[in-house]
Amino acid sequence: MSLSAATRSAASKAARVASQSSRSMATRADLLAGHGNYGGLTDQDRIFTNLYGEQDWRIKDAEKRGDYHMTKEIMHMGPDWIVQEIKDSGLRGRGGAGFPSGLKWSFMPKETDGRPSFLVVNADESEPGTCKDREIMRKDPHKLIEGCLLAGYAMRARAAYIYIRGEYFNEAVVLDEAIHEAYAAGYLGKDACGSGYDFDVFLHRGAGAYICGEETALIESLEGRQGKPRLKPPFPAGVGLFGCPSTVTNVETVAVAPTILRRGADWFASFGNENNRGTKLFGISGHVKNPIVVEESMSIPLRELIEKHCGGMRNGWDSLQACIPGGSSVPVLNKELCDEALMEFDDLRAKGSGLGTAAVTMFDDSVDMVGAIRRLSHFYKHESCGQCTPCREGTSWLEDILIRMEKGDADKREIPMLEEISRQIEGHTICALGDAAAWPVQGLIRHFKKDIEDRIDNPEGFDHEAAFQKAWSGDPFDNQEWVAEHGDGKSYASA
Ligand SMILES: Cc1cc2nc3c(=O)[nH]c(=O)nc-3n(C[C@H](O)[C@H](O)[C@H](O)COP(=O)(O)O)c2cc1C
Ligand code: SF4
Repeated sequence: MSLSAATRSAASKAARVASQSSRSMATRADLLAGHGNYGGLTDQDRIFTNLYGEQDWRIKDAEKRGDYHMTKEIMHMGPDWIVQEIKDSGLRGRGGAGFPSGLKWSFMPKETDGRPSFLVVNADESEPGTCKDREIMRKDPHKLIEGCLLAGYAMRARAAYIYIRGEYFNEAVVLDEAIHEAYAAGYLGKDACGSGYDFDVFLHRGAGAYICGEETALIESLEGRQGKPRLKPPFPAGVGLFGCPSTVTNVETVAVAPTILRRGADWFASFGNENNRGTKLFGISGHVKNPIVVEESMSIPLRELIEKHCGGMRNGWDSLQACIPGGSSVPVLNKELCDEALMEFDDLRAKGSGLGTAAVTMFDDSVDMVGAIRRLSHFYKHESCGQCTPCREGTSWLEDILIRMEKGDADKREIPMLEEISRQIEGHTICALGDAAAWPVQGLIRHFKKDIEDRIDNPEGFDHEAAFQKAWSGDPFDNQEWVAEHGDGKSYASA
């Protein structure tokens, strides 16, 4: 294989150094997981080197960061080579389900029956708590655009459609401009990158419905219809966008592909435990000192992630009550599980939750967990497209019961009834929004049943006002450590 022996050897050296340094730091994770590398990710091993907008997002700076370096040579290695590298890297989809990306890309037809194939990039990002793809699109858009070309070429696709959520107006403006820059530089369009391959990228703005992130609803919406999920089969790789073979895949999944192909599958696979390879963007919010989107290696312990990158919980680790580790649709974990949790697909699954979109929401002991999950149930009820009876009706029932439970106006016999409703939704619907609505409720019952019972026993004993989580009032930010370092910004009043 001739692709840049030098690039490869430098990359594998960097990977060795990184893995050695992380190994020396890995005692706690080794104890927990028994193997693998985690944490200690060096800047040299970060894919998203402009995550905090320190440089310009435009093509000049993007090229300096390494984007579009040897893209043509990578394409000349051929689609099958690209797919195999992605398979070997262990990359699993970053959109939530964690399906192996190389395998998914290999489902696309190698021979055309006359229909063109399409890559569809899922930039809908509407899961509560999730904001990682936004950082890619507004700070490092060329990573995504180059990824479209390489992933699209690997799938023998004629074009990529990026479906971006309507509320991401500024991100759409940046991305649109970046696409124009890539065309002007000859990286897209006819003979893209001088490879002899013609490839187009289209940007499409959605209208702001969570369900349009579900892959078949997204396709419906792109085609101009209401975003209502389709029954599968047929799967998109057979009949997708405009009736043509298509693969729908997440922004981050596509954006990491060029770096993997440049630095090699082995480099990417050197991070994280087996089956959970690579680096990953984590979006951390809630009661931490400094909420952040950060790239870290997979399998990093949750506690280390929070303490290293967020400055810890605002009132210390012991104030932790719960964590939703992967966006609002995965079940909540209690403190005991958080103490031991590794941020990877397998460990979180074994603990009864999931990595999902790696949107980590931390709850301290000031939170009324019944109220928090009730609020999520409202979201899922609102976002249900209404096609399936269990989801359409069941999400309302979940919310109605939780509204009463939050007040203590319920019977303890309703707790198993609530669980039963969630089980009747889960797995009985066209799309996974039904599961997403059911799982938070199941997590609540699993870990916070006593809170529900106590509320029912003593409705008057609970101070709703004290537990109410207020939105930002517009007052100056009062996290003094942050203010000392970064300033207190402007309040709406004084702006
Ligand atoms: C209700 C619902 C909303 C979803 N929203 C998103 C989303 O905003 N972004 C995303 O990448 N995947 C979303 N997904 C998952 C997609 O259906 C699909 O699995 C994903 O885009 C595949 O990308 P990947 O293989 O790169 O992970 C959603 C799924 C459901 C059921
Ligand atoms: S599960 Fe809910 S959102 Fe999904 S298709 Fe059925 S009704 Fe629509």
